[in-house]
Amino acid sequence: SRTGLAPVARLTATAERIAATRDARHRIELPAGPQAREDEVTRLAASFNAMLGELEESVTARRRLVADASHELRTPLTALRTNAELLARADRLTDAQRDRAAAALGRQLREVTTLVNDLIELARDEEPRPLVEQVRPAALLAHAVGAAREHWPEITFTSDVDQDATGLTVPGVPARLTRLLTNLLDNAAKFSPAGGPVDTELRLISGELHLTVRDHGPGIAAGDLPHVFDRFYRAEAARALPGSGLGLAMARQIARAHGAELTAEAAPGGGALFRLRIPAH
Ligand SMILES: Nc1ncnc2c1ncn2[C@@H]1O[C@H](COP(=O)(O)OP(=O)(O)OP(=O)(O)O)[C@@H](O)[C@H]1O
Ligand SMILES: [Mg+2]
Repeated sequence: SRTGLAPVARLTATAERIAATRDARHRIELPAGPQAREDEVTRLAASFNAMLGELEESVTARRRLVADASHELRTPLTALRTNAELLARADRLTDAQRDRAAAALGRQLREVTTLVNDLIELARDEEPRPLVEQVRPAALLAHAVGAAREHWPEITFTSDVDQDATGLTVPGVPARLTRLLTNLLDNAAKFSPAGGPVDTELRLISGELHLTVRDHGPGIAAGDLPHVFDRFYRAEAARALPGSGLGLAMARQIARAHGAELTAEAAPGGGALFRLRIPAH
């Protein structure tokens, strides 16, 4: 019976070690080869290892977020400090120089504030339960498109909603889903040629709602497609435009928290097409 209990002892020891060190890299050694057995304890140890793997991954992901964030904050904060220092010696500046520095400082403060708020949202990866309600994607889309029209008056936004998709509701956090749509519409408008148009559609396709946002801009190069949802990723061509590369990372995270899938593709005839697939039961 001692041989039988040995794996249990190993499991307990590993659990205790992880509790003590908070290091999720430990694993329980599983006998391999001819001694390998398929019993309850071995299965438990295997699931335990799988759980540790997940835990380790999430710890690593958080560390990476913190590292990325501090790196990305350094540049705008340095610029901000330079302007603040300049303004501290305002008596030596001309009126025009002072106005310029003050305006730049205000702009940089707003940028950093947006960046920090985005990071806080990204660091939180589940939607708070009490905020989940039945939402109607068609209504959210109409609302987001309305807001985008106000924000980007020079762009024509179109919206085409299937009859059978109009009334459908799904569980979700309205403010978060609106944020997702806004990020997509923002990008579409930002990368559009003057006038747009930016086309949105909502369709019911084999039990799934497909919400698409399509623009007629330069589109996304095949080499960039796998990366556009990464935090802070901005394609070479986009670096001249404002933005920090967090919008799509956030959008995908919101989609996943809702059991939905967000993907990017090349639109037929040019431009970028983003597709949000929401299960509709
Ligand atoms: N509609 C689009 N057309 C072409 N490229 C796009 C489009 N949407 C996103 N991209 C590419 O994906 C990158 C990441 O987009 P994302 O929204 O995450 O960041 P951003 O718009 O640059 O900054 P932020 O959203 O944080 O203001 C963009 O910088 C751009 O290279
Ligand atoms: Mg964006």
